[in-house]
Amino acid sequence: MQNILITGANRGLGLELTRQYFSDDATQIFATCRNPDRAEQLDALAAEYGDRIRILRLDVNDEDAIHAASESVAARVNRLDLLINNAGIFPKDGHQSHDLGNLSAADVGQVVTTNAVGALIVTQAFRQLLANGENPRVVMISSGLGSISGASGGSYAYRMSKAAMNMAARVLAMDSAMGGIITITTHPGWVQTDMGGPSAAITPTQSAAGLRSLIAKLTDADNGKFYLYDGSELDW
Ligand SMILES: NC(=O)c1ccc[n+]([C@@H]2O[C@H](COP(=O)([O-])OP(=O)(O)OC[C@H]3O[C@@H](n4cnc5c(N)ncnc54)[C@H](OP(=O)(O)O)[C@@H]3O)[C@@H](O)[C@H]2O)c1
Repeated sequence: MQNILITGANRGLGLELTRQYFSDDATQIFATCRNPDRAEQLDALAAEYGDRIRILRLDVNDEDAIHAASESVAARVNRLDLLINNAGIFPKDGHQSHDLGNLSAADVGQVVTTNAVGALIVTQAFRQLLANGENPRVVMISSGLGSISGASGGSYAYRMSKAAMNMAARVLAMDSAMGGIITITTHPGWVQTDMGGPSAAITPTQSAAGLRSLIAKLTDADNGKFYLYDGSELDW
């Protein structure tokens, strides 16, 4: 039985990853979200898959909630095999994190904290369970907008947050304290979710299927790399 934890599992890509991993009989999923009381689609999956899904409260900005979730997972299993840091925000237009001349430190900080710091602190909290894992992997759901070589204008905070997430992945991959755990960072494509909008290029089904295929094939040689959902390697 593969033990998997996904953040931001209540909608969008996180929900689709949860759904697809559930279709594999040999998985147990810890599906985490900010508001389990309003996670109707996860409740529906739980009704279908019973005790192979545990819905846990986890706000990536709340260290107490992160530790409570890790204790809750540790009370049920002694190892985690796959952690997917999927939770993220891309604030709407008008948020003072997008455009030069209209930036506020608080709004920029909120995006960077959620998208980059949150994933790092979550990974830290689960590192012992991951160290016990079978073929353990950490997957950051980052973005092509985090590529420094490919940067264009605008979306300052989001780009900064995903570049920082990529750096966190790279350092985690190199850090001897994370020995034995493969860490990668990924761009899931432009995906038809609340964040990506209806005009996006691919469906959550396509993105999640590609990511699952990529994750299934990971070896030590992939540690610390940046991949598109289809398995091709991306420039930093
Ligand atoms: N869609 C795209 O085109 C695209 C492209 C590149 C990268 N990405 C990345 O893919 C990931 C998933 O995006 P998506 O398209 O599925 O977006 P989405 O539909 O907006 O879903 C975002 C998810 O993140 C959760 N979340 C936000 N802040 C959180 C927090 N503080 N703690 C825990 N969960 C939190 C949301 O929970 P609530 O329901 O509670 O808000 C929701 O479950 C994100 O990291 C995003 O940056 C998406």
